[in-house]
This record gives sequence, C-alpha cells and structure tokens, in this order.
Amino acid sequence: MLNIALPKGRLGEKVYAMFEAAGYECPAIRENSRKLIFENAEKGIRYFWVKPSDVSIYVERGAADVGVAGKDILLEYHPDVYELLDLNVGRCKMAVAAPRDFHDDGERTLRVATKFASIAADYYAGMGRDVDFIKLNGSIELAPILGLSDVIVDIVETGTTLRENNLEVVADILPISARMIANKASFKFKNRQLEEMLAKMKEQVK
Ligand code: PRP
Repeated sequence: MLNIALPKGRLGEKVYAMFEAAGYECPAIRENSRKLIFENAEKGIRYFWVKPSDVSIYVERGAADVGVAGKDILLEYHPDVYELLDLNVGRCKMAVAAPRDFHDDGERTLRVATKFASIAADYYAGMGRDVDFIKLNGSIELAPILGLSDVIVDIVETGTTLRENNLEVVADILPISARMIANKASFKFKNRQLEEMLAKMKEQVK
C-alpha cells in the first residue's frame, strides 16, 4: 500500500487530478464528504487530505510515503524528505510587500510580518539591516495596515489580496510551485512503486 498525503484545498484537487490521470485513481475522493481518507485497494493506494503546511510532516515521519507540498514549506521547514518532482502547479511567488506610500529610509529597524520567518530571515541576512520579524499565522496583509509591521513577506499568487488592501510588491524573493516529495525510507523500500509513480507523474507535468 502506498500512502499519499494531499494538501487539502484547491491545489489538492489539481494535484489529485494529476495522480488520477497518471493511473492512480480513487473515485470516492471526488464525492463531496468530510472523509479524510480514501483507498483504492486494487491499485494499492491510499490518499489522505491534510493541511497543506502539514504534508511534509506526514512524509518526513513516514505516515505518508509520498506527498505534495509547496516549495515555500520545504524552504521554511527543511523537512528531511526527498524532493522528487516539480509539478508546475500552485505557482506563485514569495515577495516583500508594503503599503503603496511606504518609503524605507534604511535606518530604522524594519518590522517584517510573515508566516515564513526562516525564508524572510534568509532573505534579509547579509543586507546589513536591523530587522524585527513578527511571526503571524494568516491574514498577514493586515499587519502593515494596522501599523503592526512596516512590510510583509508573503505569498503572492494573483496579487488580488495585495491590491484590495492597498499594498504592493516591493521585491520578489522566490518563485514557488508544488513539489512531489517522498519519505526517505519509503523511497528505498518501496523503490519500484515509487519510481513507477514518479515516471507516470512526470508525464502529467505541463
Ligand atoms: C495566501 C497568501 C495571500 C494570498 C495571496 O493566503 O498569504 O494572503 O494567498 O493570493 P492572491 O495574490 O491570489 O490574492 P492564504 O489563502 O493561504 O491564507 P492566509 O495566509 O491568510 O492563511
């Protein structure tokens, strides 16, 4: 049995469609329900929906053999997993954004609100700047509006959230996309199945 952790939400639907097209279908998953686990015994696969930022934890600890996680999560948490394939979906970027009228004089400590403290720290390291990181868990765009921070480091996909909150990108940090990852022991002990899955998934990447 291969255990596959999918990120719950819109990205997960897209990614499941890729697995399905690659021959790893599990029709019950498409029925709307609150169930979290779906199995196709005949194909020897079991899917489960997990919070996107938790996928790499399941894979690192072997509760899942395979999973799909954003490059942002891999760079932020450095899970001990193999990154097998860039699925070229869930494309977005990590960027610094600020209110439209923000001017950084470079002298004061820069207050940076973010969910991605490690990526943000890497980005500012070496710039010779005093930075105060404020770790938040969501709705990061609120921070500069309420004066909690000067700028944010966050994910920008369509740019709508920034626009609608009078913020703009001031610097791009990294391009992001979804990656297929594998547990290291699974990759060794279930190598034939995983190599086969990897080859079939490669054919689905557009
Ligand atoms: C992400 C990100 C931005 C938004 C960007 O938030 O943190 O808020 O999506 O997308 P856009 O450029 O298309 O508007 P998410 O939906 O993951 O919610 P949260 O960070 O507030 O939890």
